[in-house]
Amino acid sequence: MYQIGTTLTQFILEEQRKHTGATGEFSCVLNDIALACKKIAALTSKGDLIGVLGSAGSENVQGEEQKKMDIITNDVMIEALSRGHAAALASEEMDEVYNLPGNVPRGHYLVTFDPLDGSSNMDVNVSVGTIFSIIKAPEGVENPTAADFMQPGTKQVAAGYCLYGPSAMMVLTTGKGVNMFTLDKDCGEFLLTREDVKIPADTKEFAINVSNQRYWEPPMQRYISECLQGVEGPRGKDFNMRWVASMVAEIHRILTRGGIFIYPMDSKMKASGKTGKLRLLYEANPMGFIVEQAGGLATTAYTRIMELQPTDLHQRVPVVMGSRNEVELVTGYHNQA
Ligand code: AHG
Ligand code: MN
Ligand code: MN
Ligand code: MN
Repeated sequence: MYQIGTTLTQFILEEQRKHTGATGEFSCVLNDIALACKKIAALTSKGDLIGVLGSAGSENVQGEEQKKMDIITNDVMIEALSRGHAAALASEEMDEVYNLPGNVPRGHYLVTFDPLDGSSNMDVNVSVGTIFSIIKAPEGVENPTAADFMQPGTKQVAAGYCLYGPSAMMVLTTGKGVNMFTLDKDCGEFLLTREDVKIPADTKEFAINVSNQRYWEPPMQRYISECLQGVEGPRGKDFNMRWVASMVAEIHRILTRGGIFIYPMDSKMKASGKTGKLRLLYEANPMGFIVEQAGGLATTAYTRIMELQPTDLHQRVPVVMGSRNEVELVTGYHNQA
């Protein structure tokens, strides 16, 4: 139990004290990320005033148009994490693994991140976020390669996101529940505002991009159509729908009041050789870890996301996560088909 108002820094140090023999390296990685998120919060809140909106005129490795802020936030993360506490980094915005410069000591943690999630929202002044996942580098590895990042989500030692909305919030799990910290700009600290958050098992709210409906697999068609039939249909209740187009915002809403978030596999993706929309290592795994730690479930519509064996840094996967009973229902429909 922590007192509401405990700073993220105090929280990290208290957690470190519980581990005899801890070197402080892991705490430093979390602090580096928190610093980067504070900087990104400042940048996003200034927005158009400092000319950071709009496209950068380039594409990332996945063929997505890069926004100026995709590149700026990636640089902020690299700078903060280049202090010698991490071993290597991987990001949505970098084709390959980023190894720290030679003059910087190497830590033992591999950090993957989505520096700006929902970046198309930047230009329209709607919520965006940063997502991160931390795993251990394999023993004895000095210059980690992509192969060292190929660890299932169950190996994560921490994961979190920072939501830049009306307020900036850092949401963190180290495998012992989920805590939320709100940035108090007056003192420059993230302060604990919600402890051990739990997702209600039942919900009446779903989030899916319905514009892709005609491409969905039959079990997904069935699930959403049953939700849409409302109180008259087999579910016997009216559902509400939300779509912010930022996974961070959707998952934050689900942690706050329940819900299910779906980005499914579909026939259009299949035809173009894509295995999903969201990325396993810096979107699906960290969010899956957080959701599970809050009592929810995270699957591909068939199997548990965190047990997937990654094969590529930028691998995409279908995602179904949130309120336990709803995720079980969707996953059941797919496995019975
Ligand atoms: P990113 O901005 O990091 O590339 O991620 C965008 C992702 C995710 O956050 C969101 O849920 C989804 O893409 C939005 O998809 P649509 O464009 O289909 O709305
Ligand atoms: Mn992107
Ligand atoms: Mn993203
Ligand atoms: Mn992104």
